[in-house]
Parts: sequence; C-alpha cells; structure tokens
Amino acid sequence: MERRTIGAATLGVGAIGLGCMPMSWAYTGSRQRGEESLRTVHTALDLGSTLLDTADMYGPFTNELLVGRALRERRPEAFVSTKVGLLVGEQHLVANGRPGYVRRACDASLRRLQTDVIDLYQLHRADPEVPVEETWGAMADLVTAGKVRSLGLCAVGARSGRRPGARPYDGRARDGRLHDGTIRQLERVQQVFPVSAVEAELSVWSPEALDALLPWCAARGVGFLAAMPLGNGFLTGTLTPGGGFEPDDVRARHPRFTAEMMAANQPIVAGLRRVARRHGDGVTPAQVALAWVLSQGRHVVPVPGAKRARWAAQNAGAAGLLLTAEDLAEVAGLPGAQGSWD
Ligand SMILES: NC(=O)c1ccc[n+]([C@@H]2O[C@H](COP(=O)([O-])OP(=O)(O)OC[C@H]3O[C@@H](n4cnc5c(N)ncnc54)[C@H](OP(=O)(O)O)[C@@H]3O)[C@@H](O)[C@H]2O)c1
Repeated sequence: MERRTIGAATLGVGAIGLGCMPMSWAYTGSRQRGEESLRTVHTALDLGSTLLDTADMYGPFTNELLVGRALRERRPEAFVSTKVGLLVGEQHLVANGRPGYVRRACDASLRRLQTDVIDLYQLHRADPEVPVEETWGAMADLVTAGKVRSLGLCAVGARSGRRPGARPYDGRARDGRLHDGTIRQLERVQQVFPVSAVEAELSVWSPEALDALLPWCAARGVGFLAAMPLGNGFLTGTLTPGGGFEPDDVRARHPRFTAEMMAANQPIVAGLRRVARRHGDGVTPAQVALAWVLSQGRHVVPVPGAKRARWAAQNAGAAGLLLTAEDLAEVAGLPGAQGSWD
C-alpha cells in the first residue's frame, strides 16, 4: 500500500487507516464482536492499513483495551492514534483539558494499549474552561517524557450535532467559516508545540474541510486524518432507507439517516456506483468514496471505521484505486447532501 507521512511516522503510514470506533462505540452491535474486531485489526495490518485510530472514550475504554489486545504481538507494525480530553458524562459528553487530568489519562491509555508510547496523541475536544495552550502544554510535556511521539487536534463535532449547542447546518452549502474556530485554535497551539495532525470529518457528502482546513494543513506540512470518510456508512450503498437503527446507534438520531433523507440522498450513492462500475467488477462505492478522499492531497489519510474484517479488507483495496479526471468531475457534480441539524 502507498505510504503517507503523518507526524512522527518518518517511515509513513498506510494511505488508508482503520477507524476502530465502530468496534466499541456509536454503531449498532458494537459490543458483540470482540473476536471479529481482533481479526479486523489484524486484517488491516496484513494489508498495510497501519494507522489505527482509537480514543479513550470509545466504549468508554474498551476500544483501547481491544486495540491493546490486538497489538500484543504486532505493536511495531502499527501507528497508534488515540485521544484525550472528552469524557462520557451522564447526559452528554464532557470536555476535560486540565493538565493533571491529561497526564493521568495518558498513563491510563498507555496501560490499556499495552504500549510504552503513543504515536499520535490527539486533543479530542478543547475544554472551554481551560486555555487550550495549557492543555496543549501538558500534552507537549508527554512528548518530552517519551510517552507520546506527536500531537494532533480533532475538529470533529463543529456540525456533527453530537454535542449540545452545535450550530445548524443546511447540508448543502460549502461553509468556509465552519472551521474558523479550529484554525484559530491551531494557530494558538502551534505557538506552544508543533501540530502533527488534524482530524476532522471529510467525505463526499461532507466536504467542508476542503475550504480552509485542508489547505491550512497542506501549507504547514500537517497531516490530515479524514474521519467518517464513508458518511457513517451511507456512502457504501449498503444501508437501506427505512431499515431503522437500534436506539444506541448514533444514526438513529442523525438527521441524514431518517428514511426520508436517506431516500433523498440516494443520487449521491448512485453517482459513486456509476464511477465504481467504470473501474470494473468488484469495485465498490465505498472504495470510490475513499479514493475520492485520498485524491484531496498527499497529506490526507482516511480512517474508515469498520468492525468487520471484510470491510477493512475492501477499504484497504481503495488505496489502489486511482480516480480519473472524469471520475472526479462526476463526483464534484453530485448533489449536496440533504438533512440538517435544524
Ligand atoms: N476525532 C473525532 O472526534 C472523531 C469523530 C468521529 C469519528 N472519528 C474517527 O473516524 C473513524 C471513521 O468514522 P466512522 O466510523 O464514524 O464513520 P465511517 O468510516 O464513515 O463509516 C463507518 C461505517 O461504515 C461501515 N463500513 C465500513 N466499511 C464498509 C464497507 N466497505 N462496506 C460497507 N460498510 C462499511 C461500518 O460498518 P460496520 O460497523 O458494520 O463495520 C460502519 O458502520 C472512526 O472510527 C473514528 O476513528 C473521529
């Protein structure tokens, strides 16, 4: 698999990573697939998907434990990205960026991951009660202490609606201002310690990061982890409108996943399917969606989430799919996604 540079990975990481979140969090059935999840991680590594993206709050904690188990005998093959600063509260997610907490959380992540060092440690959410420089300073101290190799900042959530007060979004317009706050935050933390990577949503139906965030990263040699590159599974074309989601599945509350919006957004999947067909039998809409993300820059590494080994294998295959100018024009001409947080 082609390799790309992220942070301290001087030898690079596989161009397609693996999002481990669905193995323990957010999607239906997350708690029932321990053994298959281990196979999924091993399949990803076998095929060159070396960047494994997890977080302490996925589970909470069980996702890191799972990654730790999976890497017991394969740690050198993997580039482990985990996150700090977001906790599962009784009602909703709560940010904690206090330096003492960051230090304790890192030690706990290292124990769960069964490793001496985290390759990329990301600030999951900035804490409004703590100046971001203070949190980042504590994270930088972890680099100095040899517990962490590089630092990243997550910018997912600005329009995900998964936290209270998220701004409304009409799902159609490219909004260059979406990441203004993130960029201000990045400029501030860069004064304290270099940012190696940014993680934010980027997919065919959520292309907002292309406007300002991706160019900001490219201009500074900062890597970009594309979260939710498959549109929470929608862009794979395997989800049926009206199929329904279990109450613990985030898509049960996601405005783009009502039966009506899933039906309205089918032209996007149809377009991906047309492009896939041009590349021959066996090429899937999921692979086209990932190849599109890859085509946005050499600093971009999509981290498609998967709990099934066969998905990880299919997604790794997208690294070999080169989209033509005709393909890219077809994707660019697809309708914007419908379904808003209003
Ligand atoms: N930093 C942040 O705040 C943040 C926020 C969200 C996500 N992330 C990261 O981004 C990663 C990806 O996001 P995501 O997992 O939410 O969304 P995603 O990658 O857009 O989609 C994941 C969903 O697609 C399904 N899937 C994967 N490959 C498939 C294929 N080839 N064919 C059919 N279905 C397929 C998975 O099914 P199964 O579940 O059945 O395997 C899963 O339900 C996460 O795992 C996490 O690491 C980070």
